[in-house]
Amino acid sequence: MTNVNGWYYHFIDMYTEERWNTDVELSSIDTALLMGGVVTVGQYFKDIPEIVSLSKEIYEAVDFVWMMNGTEFINMGWKPESGVLNDSWNRTGYWVAYSPDSDQCLECVFERNFTYMEHNYIHFPAPIFVHQFAHAFIDFENLSDNFTIDYFQNSVTATRATKDFFVHEMSQVYNDYTENFWGVTASDTPYGYDAWGGPPLMGQIDGSIVPCAAAGSVPFLPAETIAVLKNIRENHTAQAWTRYGFVDAFNPLTNWTNPDVIGIDVGITVLMAENYRTKFVWQNFMANQHIADAMNKIGFVPYVPTK
Ligand SMILES: *[C@@H]1O[C@H](CO)[C@@H](O)[C@H](O)[C@H]1NC(C)=O
Ligand SMILES: *[C@@H]1O[C@H](CO)[C@@H](O)[C@H](O)[C@H]1NC(C)=O
Ligand SMILES: *[C@@H]1O[C@H](CO)[C@@H](O)[C@H](O)[C@H]1NC(C)=O
Ligand SMILES: *[C@@H]1O[C@H](CO)[C@@H](O)[C@H](O)[C@H]1NC(C)=O
Ligand SMILES: *[C@@H]1O[C@H](CO)[C@@H](O)[C@H](O)[C@H]1NC(C)=O
Ligand SMILES: *[C@@H]1O[C@H](CO)[C@@H](O)[C@H](O)[C@H]1NC(C)=O
Ligand SMILES: *[C@@H]1O[C@H](CO)[C@@H](O)[C@H](O)[C@H]1NC(C)=O
Ligand SMILES: *[C@@H]1O[C@H](CO)[C@@H](O)[C@H](O)[C@H]1NC(C)=O
Repeated sequence: MTNVNGWYYHFIDMYTEERWNTDVELSSIDTALLMGGVVTVGQYFKDIPEIVSLSKEIYEAVDFVWMMNGTEFINMGWKPESGVLNDSWNRTGYWVAYSPDSDQCLECVFERNFTYMEHNYIHFPAPIFVHQFAHAFIDFENLSDNFTIDYFQNSVTATRATKDFFVHEMSQVYNDYTENFWGVTASDTPYGYDAWGGPPLMGQIDGSIVPCAAAGSVPFLPAETIAVLKNIRENHTAQAWTRYGFVDAFNPLTNWTNPDVIGIDVGITVLMAENYRTKFVWQNFMANQHIADAMNKIGFVPYVPTK
């Protein structure tokens, strides 16, 4: 597929493999997520040399230093017309980046101490997806670094906060939100694609549900999230269940349903379901030696609770 120095465009034309249009940037995070899959596949098919070598060829081509543009941070992206973007991965984030050519911490994490109701966790204003996507590949359970004690537990707390935000706060305005019906994260909306969700409130929340908000957190809070998914499946079948599983987003108050299937949202749903069931993605991804080395280099160590 079209790429520049191993990095891939955020949106491509699925028929021509070309950049969708000139608004689209080479995206470092979306390339990172793609590489999560490339590493996992290379590891699972470790007895098939062609797949192993194709996997290595693809991920070793990603030029991290180029995307740092002479700084200590990975840039968020690059456009042929204007070069790197003005934003870098310089704050709380969960993607672990590592360059074989450098001992630097490339993705230094800057802590943000956030409290919502009784939930205290590391967060910055963004929907729940920021606590899910890196965890689709990296098994953070019982690992800690110098910035937070336990990222897995942090995502558990973030999921609880998201649930409470809808069940206790948003339900005051939209009465469809209940104990078993909650969750919005970046998705299509009636007004276009948006990183909507909360806490804190982002975008024009209107009673809609984005099923992958709960689905992406299944390993963190299985009972609470699966209750939402079963409720959608059983009580909103006509509006919310299609050929590819759950729709991307829908609103039972207005009867709006997003007609598009969004791969990244189906993706987090499937990967997290499988991690919950069998730990398949975690076990294969984490078995790659580059990943083990990277986790070491950036300072992750087993976390032993003191109490
Ligand atoms: C980046 O910031 C500079 C200086 O503020 C501005 O001139 C430029 O247009 C910005 N570039 C983009 C891609 O937003
Ligand atoms: C990227 O590096 C070039 C060359 O050093 C510099 O002119 C440009 O300002 C940098 N861009 C950003 C966003 O830092
Ligand atoms: C991170 O980037 C933002 C702008 O994108 C800037 O305001 C902030 O100061 C930067 N933080 C660090 C630690 O460099
Ligand atoms: C975050 O803030 C809370 C409430 O102020 C405090 O109890 C907690 O120790 C802080 N956590 C960190 C990691 O600084
Ligand atoms: C993580 O640590 C907790 C508390 O020590 C323990 O109960 C749990 O089994 C550990 N999980 C894994 C995957 O090692
Ligand atoms: C479906 O809705 C009914 C009525 O509100 C409720 O009792 C039931 O628990 C729901 N089913 C699931 C699987 O949540
Ligand atoms: C939504 O669809 C249901 C079932 O067809 C209907 O009863 C209800 O009036 C519709 N609501 C709106 C706001 O259109
Ligand atoms: C974490 O903190 C310890 C103690 O301050 C320090 O020795 C270590 O180098 C730090 N690790 C990283 C990756 O910064």
